[in-house]
Amino acid sequence: MEKIIFDVDTGHDDAIAIAMAAGLKDEIEVLGLIATNGNVSLDRTLENTLNVAEAVGLECPVFYGSDKPLLRDRVAAGDFHGKSGLDGVTFGPRKKQECKGNGILWAINSVLNNPGEITFVSVGPYTDLAICIKAHPDFAKSLKRIVVMGGSMGRGNATDSAEFNIWGDPEAAEIVFNSGVEVVAMPLDVTLKVVLDEKILEQIRCEKESEYKKLLLSQLTFYIKANLENNNSMPHMHDPCTIAYLAKPSIFKFERRNVHVETKSQLTYGRTVTSEIDDNAKVLLGVDVDLNEFWNVFFKSFRNLK
Ligand code: RIB
Ligand code: CA
Repeated sequence: MEKIIFDVDTGHDDAIAIAMAAGLKDEIEVLGLIATNGNVSLDRTLENTLNVAEAVGLECPVFYGSDKPLLRDRVAAGDFHGKSGLDGVTFGPRKKQECKGNGILWAINSVLNNPGEITFVSVGPYTDLAICIKAHPDFAKSLKRIVVMGGSMGRGNATDSAEFNIWGDPEAAEIVFNSGVEVVAMPLDVTLKVVLDEKILEQIRCEKESEYKKLLLSQLTFYIKANLENNNSMPHMHDPCTIAYLAKPSIFKFERRNVHVETKSQLTYGRTVTSEIDDNAKVLLGVDVDLNEFWNVFFKSFRNLK
């Protein structure tokens, strides 16, 4: 059982990743969710995270994290997720989830009190994780592992050089990749291979009816349109790759490399710069995935959700 602290900037793919984690209850225990500034501002990512957590029956606490990056100005993902960050979905009045305060303090205490047991998963800018690492000398070494979505060994998606989660807080990413903790990273090199295409969409439509199916199809209606208009492609399952990895690591292929982040250049700010393959490096970069197996994990989770 993977025990995770799940740090999210809930937009559409974060929401799918949260649902996947909820559906894979035999493999993953979400100890808590921390909403952070990223795709949209913290007030909206928190609202989206609370709504999705309740909709998929996650009983874990939901906390707020950072409302801005360590140093740079705030960014946002623009049209991909819409103004709310989760456009296309309307939630009913929320019943049981409530925000329980600052997730960074909670994460530090949880990890220090359970050394070697907890994996910190970040699928938005890594601000909260970087603060945890800097705030307590024993935090990094008490983590079991770090799993993140972010970076690219090729072109970026936020700028020509930088992938959005890194671009959102380059200084935080440099701290995380060089914390000394084993980092499993899902960069664009692998996440761009996982496309929710018409075939998968049709498969979802043919699944038995459920509340979650309604929620997923309504969020996909907006998300597919936004991706086709802004990216000329169907949506990529960036954040869900982290959850599929935790449930079934063997479906991914990795290269072990050192990673540094450009924090000085205006032109390439947020670019991830990787070394040659190095057996002593601390970062495992996802480079390939068995797509059939990924979607098997996705639908296994989907069928567990009501
Ligand atoms: O580059 C993709 C990442 O940026 C994903 O985490 C998506 O949610 C956005 O935050
Ligand atoms: Ca995200």
